Amino acid sequence: MDPFEQQVTELQGAAEGWDAQQTLIWGLSTFGQSVALASSLSAEDAVLIDMASRVSKFRVFTLHTDFLFPETYALIDEIEARYGVEVERARPELTPEAQAAQYGPALWASRPDACCQLRKVEPLKKKLSGLAAWVTGVRRDQAATRANTRKLEWDAKFGLAKLNPLADWNWSRVWDYIRANNVPYNPLHDRDYPSIGCTYCTRPVKPGEDPRAGRWAGFAKTECGLHVKD
Ligand code: ADX
Repeated sequence: MDPFEQQVTELQGAAEGWDAQQTLIWGLSTFGQSVALASSLSAEDAVLIDMASRVSKFRVFTLHTDFLFPETYALIDEIEARYGVEVERARPELTPEAQAAQYGPALWASRPDACCQLRKVEPLKKKLSGLAAWVTGVRRDQAATRANTRKLEWDAKFGLAKLNPLADWNWSRVWDYIRANNVPYNPLHDRDYPSIGCTYCTRPVKPGEDPRAGRWAGFAKTECGLHVKD
């Protein structure tokens, strides 16, 4: 067993008692430059970046799919300026043009799973292969698929430790933190986009809809594959 896997297994129960700051402090001090925040620049990710900036130097990366919203790209620049950190861009192997040439136009519309695989999951796998741990903004109440999220997990799919410091936070707690600390956030959140992915596969939600209803709307798909065990 990987020594880190052993450590994760031993600490997992105790880690449930840690708050978000404690979880981050443990992760950053245990793994140093071998841990990075995975950030889609969502509200949760903005909270984690702000918290990490108060702990120590930290690494953060984004899966730069080429299909993110202009607001998301602008926020990356704003975060870099505000926190003096470089947001590492994990890019797909294929440009949008090469993908269209190889798989046909608008793969996201014909086979959204394949598009997510090429533009998010494969680049993530490559990025994580150089790390010992990653930190995500996943929360348990985001989706039934996330209800069993632990604050500290062994990610068997990618072979490294995974920290979910906000696992037990709800949406209003995220926003309390953002307002209290004046954290820069994606303005799309103010325009009925609670969950933000790529332009082609994200739409605003209507009143009363599930917060993730705007992701892959029209498909029987609720996850892109970053956080599913397979
Ligand atoms: S997704 O799997 O449906 O796309 P979601 O948007 O809920 O995930 O985000 C959950 C967490 O996954 C984020 O807090 C972040 O840690 C990570 N994540 C999602 N998309 C990206 C991305 N484009 N780049 C980096 N991390 C991401």
